[in-house]
Amino acid sequence: MSVSYDFSGKVALVTGANTRVAVSTAILFAKSGASVVVSGQYADNRLTTVANECRSTGAQVLEMAADPTREADLQKLVDKTMTTFGRIDILVNCPVSHENASITEPSFMAKYRETMHTNLEAMLFMTSICVEHLEKTRGTIINMSSIRGAHASPKESAYCMAKSAIDMFTKCMATELGPKGIRVNNVMLGNTGVKIEKGVIVDIPIYAIHHDPDHFPDPFTFSPDRFMPDNRDHIQPYTYLPFGSGPRNCIAMRFALLEAKLVLAEISQKFRFFRVTDTDVPIVFTKEFSRCQAKRLVVGIHKR
Ligand code: HEM
Repeated sequence: MSVSYDFSGKVALVTGANTRVAVSTAILFAKSGASVVVSGQYADNRLTTVANECRSTGAQVLEMAADPTREADLQKLVDKTMTTFGRIDILVNCPVSHENASITEPSFMAKYRETMHTNLEAMLFMTSICVEHLEKTRGTIINMSSIRGAHASPKESAYCMAKSAIDMFTKCMATELGPKGIRVNNVMLGNTGVKIEKGVIVDIPIYAIHHDPDHFPDPFTFSPDRFMPDNRDHIQPYTYLPFGSGPRNCIAMRFALLEAKLVLAEISQKFRFFRVTDTDVPIVFTKEFSRCQAKRLVVGIHKR
C-alpha cells in the first residue's frame, strides 16, 4: 500500500539525520512537500547525501550540523531554521548514541553520561526551545524511542534507561503541551514481538476509550461543551476516534460532520423537541459488539 501525505507549506526539523530512521523520515517529509531541515552531529558526507536526496524531490532544504551535546549548537540550529523558513511545524527528535557497556566496566559511567546526553538531554533541550515556535503553528513533536525503552537487555542499561525516560517525557509533554495545541508522540522502533498476520482483523475498543473517565470526566453525562474550542485542545491524541484515525480513517469525515450539522439545523428550525413521560432520562444505551445505540428514543415533537 502506498500512502501519500501533503505537507506543502510546512517545515520539518529533523535531528540525528545521520541515522537511518531520521534519514528516511527527512526524505519522506521532503517528498510530501515539506521544507526540511536536516541536522546531524557532524558536517560529513552522510549529512550532505541526505540533504541532496531531499533537494532532489524539489523541496527546500537547510543542511546544518549541530552537536547534540552542545546546547549552543542546538540553539543556533533552531535560530537558523527560523531565519531561513520563519516557522517550525514538525520537530523530529532523533539523536542517537548507542554505546554498550557492562555495569562493571570502568568506562560505564562515561558511556552512560554520553548516552543520556545525546539521547535524552538533547531532546529535552530541543523541545524546550521549539515550544514557542510550535505553539504558533499548532505543530507536532515526534520523539524517536525504541523497544529498548520497554525491554531490558544486558550491557544496554544506559540506552534502555534513556529510551524509557524518553517514553515518559513524551507522555508528560503530551499533557503539558496539548493545551498549547502541540501534539507530542513517540515512535517505538524495534521488534515489538507482536505480529499481525495479513488478513487479521484488529478491533479498537472505541466505546471503552470514549468512556474512559481518565480522558473524559463523567463520561456518561451529555456535555457537548467538551468539544467546544476552549476545551477540545485538552483532548489527548487518539482518545477520541469517532471517524477512526490514520491512513484508513473515514474518507467522508468532513462531509458527515457537515451533513449532521445541516440536518440538526434544518429540523430544529421546523420542529421543537421536548421531554414526555416516556422519555428515558438518562437515555438507555444498548452496548453491542460494534455499535452503541439508544434502546429507545421517545420525545415529543411540535411543529414550529
Ligand atoms: C457520522 C457518520 C460517519 C461515521 C461516524 C463514520 C465512521 C467511520 C469509521 C470509524 C471508519 C473506520 C476508520 C478506521 O478504520 O480507522 C470509517 C471508514 C469509512 N467511511 Fe465512514 N463514517 C461516517 C460516514 C460516512 C459516509 C457518509 C461515507 C461515504 C459517503 C463514509 C465512507 C467511509 C469509507 C469509504 C470508509 C473506509 C475508508 C478506508 O478504509 O480507507 N463514511 N467511517
